[in-house]
Amino acid sequence: MTAYPRQPNSLVQLLREAQAKHGWLPRPLLARLAGELGLSLAHVEGVASFYRFFHLQPVGRYRLLFSDNITDRMLGNQALMADLCARLGVQPGVMRSDGRVSVATASCTGLGDQGPALLVNHHQVVTRLDAQRVARIAELVEADVPPAQWPAEWSVVDDNIRRADVLLGSTLAPGEALAAASARGAEGTLEEVKRSNLRGRGGAGFATGTKWDLCRQAPGEQRVVVCNADEGEPGTFKDRVLLTRHADLVFEGMTVAALAIGATQGFVYLRGEYRYLLDHLEAVLQRRRHANLLGANILGRAGFDFDITIHLGAGAYVCGEESALIESLEGQRGTPRIRPPFPVEQGYLGRPTSVNNVETFCAAAHIALRGSTWWAGLGTPKSTGTKIHSISGDCARPGLYEYPFGTRVETMLVDCGARDTQAVQVGGPSGSCLSVSEFGRRICFEDVPTAGALMVFDRSRDMFEVARNFAQFFAHESCGFCTPCRVGTELVVRRMDKLAAGRGSRHDVEVLYELDKLMHGATHCGLGGAACNPLRDTIAKFRPSYERRLKSLHFVPGFDLDAELSEARAATGRDDAGAHLESSHE
Ligand SMILES: Cc1cc2nc3c(=O)[nH]c(=O)nc-3n(C[C@H](O)[C@H](O)[C@H](O)COP(=O)(O)O)c2cc1C
Ligand code: SF4
Repeated sequence: MTAYPRQPNSLVQLLREAQAKHGWLPRPLLARLAGELGLSLAHVEGVASFYRFFHLQPVGRYRLLFSDNITDRMLGNQALMADLCARLGVQPGVMRSDGRVSVATASCTGLGDQGPALLVNHHQVVTRLDAQRVARIAELVEADVPPAQWPAEWSVVDDNIRRADVLLGSTLAPGEALAAASARGAEGTLEEVKRSNLRGRGGAGFATGTKWDLCRQAPGEQRVVVCNADEGEPGTFKDRVLLTRHADLVFEGMTVAALAIGATQGFVYLRGEYRYLLDHLEAVLQRRRHANLLGANILGRAGFDFDITIHLGAGAYVCGEESALIESLEGQRGTPRIRPPFPVEQGYLGRPTSVNNVETFCAAAHIALRGSTWWAGLGTPKSTGTKIHSISGDCARPGLYEYPFGTRVETMLVDCGARDTQAVQVGGPSGSCLSVSEFGRRICFEDVPTAGALMVFDRSRDMFEVARNFAQFFAHESCGFCTPCRVGTELVVRRMDKLAAGRGSRHDVEVLYELDKLMHGATHCGLGGAACNPLRDTIAKFRPSYERRLKSLHFVPGFDLDAELSEARAATGRDDAGAHLESSHE
């Protein structure tokens, strides 16, 4: 297990360790840590308070977090949570008076193929919750049985690989790709990755070879390779499986990147929800060190020194954004940085840093071994290779499906056993919502891009409730740094709650449109920019699900124009925000 140096850069990891020991983070403990690290107490408290998995107030010894993605809701998580709360005599989000237990919700825990899911004390999962499991959990908590002694089968996480292609369907021997890369040399490897036209799998699709080259060329003494395993986009769980089954391949791809870039330091930023994978990943790293696949003079190549440290996140979706991730790696709050400079120029501790997705590294390892021509022969000209999709929701066979880029949505729906589908959400809440007429579209950067989630909704689902769940997600995960996102995401939720309660009017729908427009150009990072995507798509494509909630088209009891306007202005920082409201009420 990694021993984190007791220095300010390790603050997030040291807070994790302290909380694991004490259950929560009392002030005197934070003060001691601040003193030891030469930081102010205000700074340490500021960092700790940023992350949802850190508790500055006492929490129950059993901390039970229900995953609250829309797919968990479709599987009945809300009723199960209400049942558990009733059995334990506890209010959601409030510690029981005897200090034994607290129950709350968390954003998607990356188990959409086997939900509803529960996270216990931030390090153990329970999958496939049902009424019997809930009843038994209540008994175990009351009998004070430690989670480690709960039935082992509850914590089994299946890989659910349903369609494997080149990445999921083959296993490389550890060191095989690295040896090929070493034989080609650093520049040869970089050229090979460039020629393959591999594009990043984290969402934006930036050319991997170009990113590595920028990092290699940037001035600096030390270079850094970071594997982004934050996988916070609701509905995405492919990286979980890659890390479980193909950890060697992930680390191999990172080491290939280190060779190409000239990096000496590597990090895996592993989301806190995947804490249960940590021991396995550390064991694989250790094996690779013993096999001289990490460490000094890797594979006997003089001067090829590289090692990898795992850094655990603590429940903040925004830390998947690469500059926020780097802040977190440095022991800070996960606030996205102003760019430029980009991480490839000045990243971790000011060093040139390449941040890539887990799947990108797997693809790079395969390219190092099999070559760019082979890879570029798969997929489409602008989206080479294959893509792994996490499919969940209304389908008979949820799980992982790997297809060449360019595959049509309808093919995927048939393969996963979806019936009577009315919509698919591609790329998670930040992505796009497709209706039936669009199922012939193809998944690729030229048509429908994706980071790897595909959630299926049949005709029994209320698309307004889907969009509302996503709106709640963004409001919950906004880091609060910039006003348009902090206030805007809250206003969206309030508007949707009002519509859900049957108290909304057409004005509310207009305000939602307005907020979408204003947030798009005004937010500091991609989270705020994407926050209204589901709203826009569902209003445009599933308008009846909004309209049947409208109370009145003209007279709206309780409609307070001044309050509406000041809210919209506060949200956007623009004086003209909400002008349409004035004209419509004149
Ligand atoms: C709010 C937000 C969350 C993100 N979360 C992730 C994530 O969990 N995993 C990921 O690989 N990229 C995520 N990204 C994209 C990263 O910023 C970055 O583009 C990516 O890690 C680069 O890797 P790639 O070049 O291999 O795609 C996120 C971006 C935003 C704006
Ligand atoms: S857009 Fe949202 S998540 Fe991004 S920096 Fe602003 S407040 Fe934070």
